[in-house]
Amino acid sequence: MATDTRGLNVVRIRELSRGFGDRTVLRDIDLEIARGEFVALLGRSGSGKSTLLRALAELDENVTGSGELSVPTERAVVFQDSRLLPWTRVLDNVILGLGGKGAAERGKAALAEVGLAGREKAWPRELSGGEQQRVALARSLVREPKLLLADEPFGALDALTRIKMHALLQDLCAEHKPAVLLVTHDVDEAVVLADRVLVLDDGVLSTDLRVDVPRPRRHSDPEFIRAREVLLNALGVDTEPRPAALEKEKQAS
Ligand SMILES: Nc1ncnc2c1ncn2[C@@H]1O[C@H](COP(=O)(O)OP(=O)(O)OP(=O)(O)O)[C@@H](O)[C@H]1O
Ligand SMILES: [Mg+2]
Repeated sequence: MATDTRGLNVVRIRELSRGFGDRTVLRDIDLEIARGEFVALLGRSGSGKSTLLRALAELDENVTGSGELSVPTERAVVFQDSRLLPWTRVLDNVILGLGGKGAAERGKAALAEVGLAGREKAWPRELSGGEQQRVALARSLVREPKLLLADEPFGALDALTRIKMHALLQDLCAEHKPAVLLVTHDVDEAVVLADRVLVLDDGVLSTDLRVDVPRPRRHSDPEFIRAREVLLNALGVDTEPRPAALEKEKQAS
């Protein structure tokens, strides 16, 4: 469970299996994540994405399993809900458990980085959902993690806020350079953000796609469209136009 200091990989998993009772959810998974690499994880609901993320966070409970897992101790986890303590002010949430001199200054700087300078004394309930998620990001990054684990962190946000959060996360990652494992349902989110996209299907990583679309990534870039198609196909979504739709188009022209 120690940091892999031998190689360039911060995460190294060998033949990882996880299950609940007699149900196997993950089967013999091998995975490496390099320093600073941004990996997105897709898969249908119930495919085991959160189970894999929890294994990496070493937060799994009531789970049976085997395999080798090497993850850095300097890691942070962000969930769909911000999990801020409601009775603790924003800055104190950010630096909670952070010892040492200058913690408050570092917390303030982290809040400024996520665009929340001046909100240090606010209560979590006084912030919008997007602002609360920004506090959660600040709380993670103030710890300078080598590995950031994020389980659908933008899943509850509206489309516009989500796009802004993508830009913010990219800036924060460029600055702090953690390796990232981002669980998402959203294929476009995966292609916009990730260096590599994995698809989890039937307990195995069925796809491992390197995304070479130049940044900033445009949805109209042919490479973007190609990556999206590969991933939708891997998720079992048919991207071919239906005969009925083609027929309608013909009639309209
Ligand atoms: N604590 C638990 N006890 C029993 N079964 C569990 C437990 N946690 C997860 N499971 C089961 O393991 C499977 C994978 O769950 P997991 O939460 O990892 O899926 P997921 O891919 O994250 O799904 P979603 O996209 O809906 O969040 C599901 O069938 C789920 O019912
Ligand atoms: Mg999940």
